[in-house]
Amino acid sequence: MSATLTIRRPDDWHLHLRDGAMLAAVLPESARHFARAIIMPNLVPPVTTGAQAAAYRDRIRAALPEGARFEPLMTLYLTEETDPDDVASAARTGLVKAVKLYPAGATTNSASGVRDFERIRAVLERMAEIGLPLCVHGEVTDPDIDIFDREAVFIDRVLDPLRRATPGLRVVMEHVTTSQAVDYVTSADRDLAATITVHHLVINRNHILAGGIRPHYYCLPVAKRETHRRALVAAATGGDARFFLGTDSAPHLDAAKESACGCAGCFTAPIAVPLLAEIFEREGALDRLEAFASLNGPAFYGLPTNEDRLTLTRAPTPVTFPAKIETAHGPVTVFDPGFPVHWHAS
Ligand code: NCD
Ligand code: ZN
Repeated sequence: MSATLTIRRPDDWHLHLRDGAMLAAVLPESARHFARAIIMPNLVPPVTTGAQAAAYRDRIRAALPEGARFEPLMTLYLTEETDPDDVASAARTGLVKAVKLYPAGATTNSASGVRDFERIRAVLERMAEIGLPLCVHGEVTDPDIDIFDREAVFIDRVLDPLRRATPGLRVVMEHVTTSQAVDYVTSADRDLAATITVHHLVINRNHILAGGIRPHYYCLPVAKRETHRRALVAAATGGDARFFLGTDSAPHLDAAKESACGCAGCFTAPIAVPLLAEIFEREGALDRLEAFASLNGPAFYGLPTNEDRLTLTRAPTPVTFPAKIETAHGPVTVFDPGFPVHWHAS
């Protein structure tokens, strides 16, 4: 079968670009297919103030390839010291589009995250007032909670109480991995949405652990069992406007992934859009791809949809993607879905 599909250019509502040599290497991969992306602030040190976000935005713009049109949508890393006035002024100028909540210790570079949720109350109330979304890494960090249960427990113990205590707060539950999260988002009002990654639509926990440990499939939240993956596919392809694409493309050097204590993160940027088309085709849902990748996100964030278009073409033979990209400090492995992808994007 050969087919083409033209959609509004997609946006990535959750992306790690890093900094320096890594930024230079990975940015072209996102700028090729995406018009905009919500840029995660978990640098070392984290992007916690409006001034730091402006400086990071400028470094991203400076690293763009000649002629590329790509708009970084900046976020602030929420700490217990975050100043509500700084958040409000960074939002007012349009610099910052969301604030990111990491429970302390939940994932890569989250040590400065939140321990005591009472201490962020004033910031959350101000965000609810001005309509600035909170992006949430939804996992508890309690060592007594099994890693496969951390998202579901977070909903009950943290997210639901936090949303009830802050009426009107707009929340994006990031990179959801469980049917519990899908159900929670579906049952909530319009102030709650969720991003879904491409890799969580492809892998379940067997891909990481059965037949040998596959470090390049390890990310947080960790992929769950197959029933959960199916729930995510149903949510992404089902047409509910509260679900949209956030790749969570999170590059780490191979040396840091292939290690006795490997880093969490899947680098999907080079393959994300073609692979997403393949997944939607398999589900008979190509007519819903544009909503998930290009329409639902801007609608939630109150931003215009892209006027520019992206054409997807299905090739009769599989498309080849690089297995790795090179950076000044070493290679980064590209996510391998383990099945052929037939879609080109241009
Ligand atoms: C992300 C990273 O490497 O920064 N890792 C990941 O596994 N997704 C952080 C995050 O989004 O959790
Ligand atoms: Zn992430």
